[in-house]
Formats: sequence, C-alpha cells, structure tokens
Amino acid sequence: MKYIISCSVALLLLSNVSAQTKKEAAINAKISSIIKKMTLEEKIEMLHGNALFSSAGVKRLGIPELTCDDGPLGVREEIKRFDWNSANWTTDSATFLPNGSAIAATWNPAMANKYGVVLGEEANARKKIIMLAPAFNICRMPLCGRTYEYYSEDPFLNSQLAIQSVRGIQSQHVAACIKHFAANNQEVNRGEVNAIIDERALREIYLPAFKAGVQQGNAYTVMSAYNKLNGYWCSENDFLLNKVLKKEWGFKGIVISDWGGTHHTVAAANSGLDLEMGSSGPYDQWYFAKPLLAAVKAGEVSVKTIDDKVSRILWLMYHTSMSANHPKGSIATPVHSKAVYDIASESIVLLKNDAHLLPLKTSNIKSIAVIGDNATRTFALGGYGAGVKAKYEITALAGIKSRFGKTAEIKFAQGYKANYSASKTDAQNAGSDQPDQTLINEAVALAKTTDVAILCIGSNREYESEGHDRKNLSLPFGEQALVNAVSAANPNTIIVIMAGAPYDLNEIKKSNHTIVWSWFNGSEAGNALADVLKGVVNPSGRLPFTFPVSLKDSPASALNTYPGNNMTADYKEGILVGYRWYDTKNINPLYCFGYGLSYTNFTYTDLATNKKSYKPGDKIVVSVKIKNTGRTAGKETVQLYISKVNSSVLRPEKELKAFKKIMITPTEKSLVSMNISISDLAYFDDKLSKWVVEPGEYKVMAASSSKDIRQVTSFRISK
Ligand code: BGC
Repeated sequence: MKYIISCSVALLLLSNVSAQTKKEAAINAKISSIIKKMTLEEKIEMLHGNALFSSAGVKRLGIPELTCDDGPLGVREEIKRFDWNSANWTTDSATFLPNGSAIAATWNPAMANKYGVVLGEEANARKKIIMLAPAFNICRMPLCGRTYEYYSEDPFLNSQLAIQSVRGIQSQHVAACIKHFAANNQEVNRGEVNAIIDERALREIYLPAFKAGVQQGNAYTVMSAYNKLNGYWCSENDFLLNKVLKKEWGFKGIVISDWGGTHHTVAAANSGLDLEMGSSGPYDQWYFAKPLLAAVKAGEVSVKTIDDKVSRILWLMYHTSMSANHPKGSIATPVHSKAVYDIASESIVLLKNDAHLLPLKTSNIKSIAVIGDNATRTFALGGYGAGVKAKYEITALAGIKSRFGKTAEIKFAQGYKANYSASKTDAQNAGSDQPDQTLINEAVALAKTTDVAILCIGSNREYESEGHDRKNLSLPFGEQALVNAVSAANPNTIIVIMAGAPYDLNEIKKSNHTIVWSWFNGSEAGNALADVLKGVVNPSGRLPFTFPVSLKDSPASALNTYPGNNMTADYKEGILVGYRWYDTKNINPLYCFGYGLSYTNFTYTDLATNKKSYKPGDKIVVSVKIKNTGRTAGKETVQLYISKVNSSVLRPEKELKAFKKIMITPTEKSLVSMNISISDLAYFDDKLSKWVVEPGEYKVMAASSSKDIRQVTSFRISK
C-alpha cells in the first residue's frame, strides 16, 4: 500500500515536472519566434528606460511596456512619467508594509512571504510588472542609512527571508527585483566607492541571500548596485553578473541597473547588464540606446548578446504580465492590513522588562502619558528613497488610545522636536541633536500626573534615509535628556524606541527598567505596539543585528575601513561581520544578534543529533525540547549555531545554520527538529576557489540568542 502511494506521488511529481518543462519549452519557442520578427532597433528600445519607471515594448508584436515601481515599503504612489512629482492619482493609496529590519526581526520566513504576497497583490492592482524589492544588503556598518530597508547582518537569516519574500511577490505573477547586487553596504559615496572584498567574504557573507533569492526564490530580476566591487562597477562587473549570477547560479531573468547606475555601453552590455534604468539626459542618448545600436553595428557587442537580453525580458513577461491567469490584484484591503498587523506584532522586540511592568495591567492604570514626537509621527514617507502614500497609518498614540482609551485617560506631550531633514545640509541640520527644554518641562509635568509614562523616541524616515549614513549611533534630537527627565518624574516609565538600525542605548539599558523596540512598522504599527504593551500579543521579535556598546567596536570602525580612503573601502574584516566579529574577537555587544525577551520563559533540554558521525551528502537532524515554563502562551525562536572545533582555517566563533519559531502554550513541551545539510558547514576556500567541508568535530548549540546558549552537543564529519 505504502509502495503504491509513493509510486503515485512520484508519478504525479514527474507529470508536474514534465508539464512545467513543456510549458517552458513552449515559452522559449514563442520567444525565439518573436525575436526573429524584431528589428535591431526594436530590440534596443527594450533595453533602456523610456520613462522613469518603464521601458518600451513593441506594439506591432503585442509586447507591452515593462513597468516597475518601488518597493520595499509598499507600492509607491504614482508619479509622473518623466519626473518625480506626484501624478495626483486618487486610487494609489496603498498598504504601508513594515520595513526590512522589522520583517527580519520576526525571524519568521512565513512573515516575509506574507509581506511578499501583499506587495505582489498591490503591484498587480497598480499594473506594475516588477516590484523593486526586496532589498537585503548585509548590515555591515550600523550607520548605513538604508539599514532600515535591509534585513540582517547574518547571511542565513537573510537568505531565508529573501527566499520567502521573493516567493510571496512572485506568487502573484509579479517579478521581484532583489537588490542591490552587491555590497551596497554604505550610502556615503555609494555611487563611486570601490568595495574591496575577498572572495571568501563575498561567498560566505555578501552573496548567499542573492544566491538563495535566485535559486530557491527564483527571482525574475536583480538590480545591480551603484558601487564598484573589486575594481568594477556592479553594473559592468563580469565576475558578478556573468560568471556568478548567470552562469554559476543559472539566473534566467534580467539584470536591471540601479537608477543612474550605468556608466558605459560596451562594458555593461558585455558584462551582463540587461536593462539600463534611471540615467539622465535624452532617452535616446542613454548608454543602452543609440550608443548601444552603434556598438552592435561596430561589432563591439554581438547581436547574440542583444538577443539574450531581449529573450530574458520576454521570458520575464511570460511569467508575469503575459502569464496565463494573471491575477487582478487588490490594494489596501483589510486582508492586507491584517498581514501588516501580524508582521508588526511579531517584529517588536522586548529589550528589558526588569520591573515586570509589562504587560500593562489595565485594571491598575487610570492615566497614561504618551510622550515623544514619534508617538504621533507617521513613517510611510520621509527622507530620500521610496515611500508609500499610505491609505492609513496608526500612530503609537492612536494605537494606545484604541487599546487603553476605554479604561484610562490618555494625554500626549511632544517631548522633543525632530528637527532634521535628509534634504538639508549638515550645517542646516546643526543643533537638531539638542533637547528642547520647554518641551521636556511640559512632558515632565504631564508624566508626574499619570500612572504610567510611555516615551516614544527613536529616529524617523528623515534621519534614517537612503543617500546618507548617520554620523554616529547617538539617539537624535536630545532624546536622552528627555528620557532622563521623564524617568525621574515617573517611576513607571516605558521606553519605546522606533527606528530601523542599531543605536547607542547604553544609558537607557543601564538606567531604565522597561525598554521596547519597534520599527517603521507599517499601517498597523500603533495597534501592534499597543497590543504588545497590553499583552494581547506576547512579544517574540529578535534583533536581526548586533547593537554594539560603541561604534568603535564594530568591525568596519575598528579596522578604520569605513567609509574608505580615496573612494576605496577595503573590507579588511573579511568574513567577520556582525556577531561573527564580536564573538570571535571576544567583544561584548550591548544587545546581541538574536536577542529578545518574552512575557514567558522557555527551557531547553535534550539537544540531540540523529547520528554522532556523518558523511558528505548526509542530512543532520538536530532536535531539542522546548518547554514554556511561564503562564502565558508565547513564541520562541530556537536558534542553532555551529562551530568547528580546531578548524584549520579562520572561522567565526559560531554561525547560525538553522532556526525555527514556534508557538508554545503554558507548561507545554515541544520537540523542535531542524535540518542542516553537510554542505551548509562548508567554508569557501579562496585558493581552491571552492567550498570545502572540513572533516572532524563540530559543536552544535541550541540558543535563545547568539549569547544565550542553552544546550551544546557535538558530532563528527568523516572524510
Ligand atoms: C535606489 C533603488 C531604487 C531606485 C528607484 C535608487 O536610488 O537605490 O533602491 O529602486 O532608486 O527608485
């Protein structure tokens, strides 16, 4: 019986595979026949923008324009065809989705998938074929202005989220555009800086999520980064685009330049760039317009190369806008709001709860002071880069009012002025770090009169922005002075920080008993936050990157390689990025990678591997029992780190190789099982230019954070 069932499953799988192969063959045949009918001029027209966010189709052959839009926070409001001003539509209000580091903080790939599905559905409603999202450059330097858009400092967490966000978007027949390929890890000098990265660090740290996005997510498009990598612009980097992406990884889709990130015609065309976008000057003068036509006629770029690019665009179209059963899409629906709420709820990180003030007991609380500019601020727009015309956005104050307003009197004080604008010069922004004593006095007076004070501080979308990096890790706008004053006035002060990147929380960690970290958390941010404060949601977010005690502890600062000299940033730390650096160098972080508290506690027991010794090709099955020992149901993120004992080469002290988020009810015990492939244990040998799994002993650690190792066991790999 078992045999019959497995045979029929196998047959079904085979027939699916052959149906898929047939479908692909039919698409390829159509593409070849279209290409045969096209003139060289028509082909070239398809390879460069014809407006800010589209490139030409060929009307006479029924090929539509290729349209795209930003991402990642949601589908951007419609702008005019040829400039960045609003098109003044009334139908483009969209769902504001949580930012990248918020999604990463859920440590839940299912949430990344949800994010992708919403983005895909809304893209369809707006007739966008490509969403310029997700963005997941490695968080190498905590000051990077786009840290909030990106996911993590860890390549494994990054990869798992990349795969699912791409799958989510593309499940709606909309192309994801994974960006920025590769190593756009700083905004300072991003258009010129040459990132010098050894191949091992590239393969182990900077490329894995792109590889996973391509091979497991099947991403249809990739955006080349602005910067240079090892001497060549990413948009004309033969190693990156031809050798690795297209040949090694088998990428079938198109490489799109970042906006204005193309620098030459022949070098870019021959090195793997397919579509030039966002350049300036008349469209027919762009590198991939008349100059490309001339280069083909001069024999510098072959017709075969042009045909390959056009085929890729057509292939993408057959899987998206020209696909069978193309979904219509929908925008800003209640289902999308629910998805945002779910993601936001799982992203909020409880950093400290020493006085057990949280969750707030509504029966004891008759008055709440909500203090801070961030309590009433929205985050859908601001700074440079893509934002969303949000259909609505629940602020922290609105969320707190809706969840506590029936039982408590809620009053607001601004507390500080967020006087910083991404479009102003440093001189114009000078003084924005200073406290406003009048606002502090008002806040203190209010806090003295209430049972609880909820202080909403952090940064905003002007302060963290594309196009510039922060100058330091300090909390902006004189917030520390406000924290000190309000905490002194009200012993029940809760610090809520809304931001997308690490900040210096030394003083707050030392002096405050209750700290909650939230993000630019989308349309439902305030509701999710208030539900965490109330205990309707038990917090389960975990930090996707390390908060260093001091900036000088972080690798790029310690080695003085940021922002680089003479436009060169030499990534001397190699593979030691994020916790890999802090752990290996024995530097204690302020808050470590993977950290986050819950309203309950979990114990770990019985860590085991299914065997004690493995051969190449085996799967390691690791299991551990987790018990919820508290009185509240909660989600625990079980993290598995691996360490090579007596490695013959430098390896990080430990590396994340698997994780699982599970819901456990009080007193319940759950057996969590996770797989690790032997190949996941490999390091990249840059002399041999291949992945090597070293035989010998490996330690496996089951952990609640990278610094909270609960159980350890070991296994061997034989030759
Ligand atoms: C950003 C990209 C974005 C593009 C189009 C660039 O400045 O780096 O992430 O997709 O603009 O708006």
